[in-house]
Amino acid sequence: MHQTNLKQAVLVTGASGGIGRAISVAFAAAGWSVGVHYHRNKEAGEETLTHVVAAGGTGALYGADIQQSLAVQEMVAAFCRQAPAPSVFICNAGIGGSQLLLRQGEDEWSEILATNLTGTFHCLRAMAPPLLARGGGSIVVIGSHAGFHGATGQAAYAASKAGLIGLVQTAAQEWGMGNVRVNLLLPGWQKTGLSEGAMPESDQWHDHVLGRPPSREEVARTVLYLAQLKDVSGQVWNCDSRIL
Ligand SMILES: NC(=O)c1ccc[n+]([C@@H]2O[C@H](COP(=O)([O-])OP(=O)(O)OC[C@H]3O[C@@H](n4cnc5c(N)ncnc54)[C@H](OP(=O)(O)O)[C@@H]3O)[C@@H](O)[C@H]2O)c1
Repeated sequence: MHQTNLKQAVLVTGASGGIGRAISVAFAAAGWSVGVHYHRNKEAGEETLTHVVAAGGTGALYGADIQQSLAVQEMVAAFCRQAPAPSVFICNAGIGGSQLLLRQGEDEWSEILATNLTGTFHCLRAMAPPLLARGGGSIVVIGSHAGFHGATGQAAYAASKAGLIGLVQTAAQEWGMGNVRVNLLLPGWQKTGLSEGAMPESDQWHDHVLGRPPSREEVARTVLYLAQLKDVSGQVWNCDSRIL
């Protein structure tokens, strides 16, 4: 991919994970400076940074627990201080969890909501002021098909991802006049630590009209593309072939 924007910087949360790494590399290949965020797995964050550099980009590592509002504010402040021209934020960090509704423990429920929904709230709230101050920017939040249709054994996860729909649409309305775009992207099934044990077997893609899940690289390129659209906000982009 040719270099489209040498001066812009993106911060990717959950860049130590599978989808976040692919998104980081897609931006790097397009010449962006990439803020690589991790939580517990610093080593994986460092590996992503190595991939970023190998793809032709530059970047730096940022550690934070998105459940902690202060930690997120400090991460965003550091990124905005250090990065060349912060203009895009990819809110990708999240956790899974699989439990039937009647067996769902309170602790796991709270952990999933505190990470996927409240954690993303912390991220949006921290990044909007600097983007508004710069005259605009773009935020892509990574949602899930389960947030629209639910999924057996996924009550907490589905509820957290459904909450993101309202969060994204509200943020888009509140910040639109400040030229900050906020969109939700559904990456489809991807083989990562999060989907382990839950992802369907290779012959079980009957609900996908193409009969297959999307490639991670195409999903990452779609994030890169969506983040750069100037006239789109408050929308949902589904990357697989399930009918939404
Ligand atoms: N995989 C799929 O099939 C699929 C489908 C639909 C949507 N998604 C969504 O895609 C996103 C990325 O998932 P993935 O599949 O790439 O999972 P993954 O490989 O397990 O990566 C998850 C990432 O989230 C970070 N994270 C977890 N808890 C955190 C916390 N409290 N604070 C900050 N960061 C935290 C992890 O950081 P550390 O490892 O450094 O702790 C890791 O970088 C998630 O939002 C997920 O819901 C995934």
